[in-house]
Amino acid sequence: MPLPEKYTLTELIPAENLAARVKELAAQIDACYTELGAKEIMLVCVLRGACVFYADLLRALQTPVRVDFLQASSYVGQASSGNLHISKDIENIENQHVLLVEDIVDTGFTMRLLLEHLQARRPASLKICTLLNKADARRYEVPVDFIGFEVPEKFLVGYGLDYNDSFRNLPYIGEIVLE
Ligand code: IMP
Ligand code: MG
Repeated sequence: MPLPEKYTLTELIPAENLAARVKELAAQIDACYTELGAKEIMLVCVLRGACVFYADLLRALQTPVRVDFLQASSYVGQASSGNLHISKDIENIENQHVLLVEDIVDTGFTMRLLLEHLQARRPASLKICTLLNKADARRYEVPVDFIGFEVPEKFLVGYGLDYNDSFRNLPYIGEIVLE
C-alpha cells in the first residue's frame, strides 16, 4: 500500500510523554509481579503494532523477562462470531506468567479471541498491557491490566501504530485524517 496522497497529521502524545509513561508502567508491572511472586515474566509482543512500545517497555522492566512474539488477525464472519488466524504463534506457556503487550485495544475483539486461545494453554497467569486504550470503542469486554493512555476514537499512528503499514516509525503518537 502506498502512502496516502493527502492527509493531515496532528501530534497527540509527544515522544517525551511516551518515554515517561513507559517508565511508570514498568514500575507498576514490576510491583504487580513481585506481589504475585513471579520470578520471571513471559513478555509477549503482539505483532506488528506493539513492536516499538515492546522494545521500550522491555528495557524499563526490572523483573527478569523472556521474550516471544505472536501475530494474529481476526475475521468477523457472517455470523456475529469471529475467528482468529494466527500467523506466528508463541511457544509453550504452561505454568508461566504471561504478559501480552499490545499497541491499542479498540473494540476488544482481537484481544478477546487471543485471551481464549492462550488461556487454554494453562499459563500460571495471563495479563494484558496496552499502550493505548480506546475505551469508548469497546464492544467486547476485555480485562486490561495495564494501560498507558486513554485515547479518543480517532485513527492514531506512530510509535509502532500504522495506517496501511505506514507511519510506524514516527517517534510520537499522532492522529491522521485523510483528505
Ligand atoms: P480491536 O480488535 O477492534 O480491538 O482492534 C485491535 C487492533 O486494531 C489493534 O491491535 C490495531 O492493530 C488496530 N487498530 C485499532 N485502532 C487503531 C488505530 O487508531 N490506529 C492503528 N491501528 C488501530
Ligand atoms: Mg495490534
